[in-house]
Amino acid sequence: MVATIAAGDPIRLVWRNDLGGRTYRLDRSGHTEYVKWAPDHPEIDLEQEARKLAWAGRYTVVPEVLGLGRDTDHSAWLHTLGIPAMPAVAPRWKADPRRAARAIGTGLRMFHERLPVSECPWSWRIRDRSTRIRNPDDMALLDVVPEEDHLVVCHGDPCVPNTLIGPDGNCAGHVDLGSLGVADRWADLAVATYSLPWNYSPAYEDELLDAYGIERDGDRISYYRRLWDAT
Ligand SMILES: Nc1ncnc2c1ncn2[C@@H]1O[C@H](COP(=O)(O)OP(=O)(O)O)[C@@H](O)[C@H]1O
Ligand SMILES: [Mg+2]
Repeated sequence: MVATIAAGDPIRLVWRNDLGGRTYRLDRSGHTEYVKWAPDHPEIDLEQEARKLAWAGRYTVVPEVLGLGRDTDHSAWLHTLGIPAMPAVAPRWKADPRRAARAIGTGLRMFHERLPVSECPWSWRIRDRSTRIRNPDDMALLDVVPEEDHLVVCHGDPCVPNTLIGPDGNCAGHVDLGSLGVADRWADLAVATYSLPWNYSPAYEDELLDAYGIERDGDRISYYRRLWDAT
């Protein structure tokens, strides 16, 4: 399918995820496009991701959906227009992790401020995520739920590679919105900071929180990281 969409233009594999999914970049003349391809898996729903991209794109910069489909071999694909920026995990930004961490923090703040909670059809709140807790030992997390600090539309997977940074060092957009939904802002902040050491050294967690404009809340960070790991 990727070759059909590319129609002879160069195709480059840019990303592989843990669930067997792959993302390809198509180099058109003057712009890029991306095709996200995924085998059928209960945790992947590209149709839902396409709906979320279309909704979020009314308020902030996310990939514009060009097409969506299924192949006969139990896989699906999502074709988007490229955002002209590099993921925060690109060598350019790994070499400048302080600046990248700040761009992620500012970008997340922007995302939370722009997307309207009252209009958002999806939830990422604890009770709605709890159905995905697999290990019975982790169910105890639901007994000690922290009070919500501030409800926003969360990105849902704010790991380093899902923020795009422009040449000026500012956040240029977000990708990978399959889990987007309303939740406490700490659900996103806990994971955004959690993912820094997986990609950068040192991790600059405090830079990210400072750029977001918030004081570290150790209890909520630790709760939402455990929930992330459990789901
Ligand atoms: N429309 C797009 N514009 C720019 N980069 C994109 C676009 N779509 C995907 N990418 C790049 O491909 C990578 C993988 O896409 P993503 O949707 O995050 O897949 P996954 O769910 O496997 O993490 C992203 O980190 C980003 O670098
Ligand atoms: Mg991603």
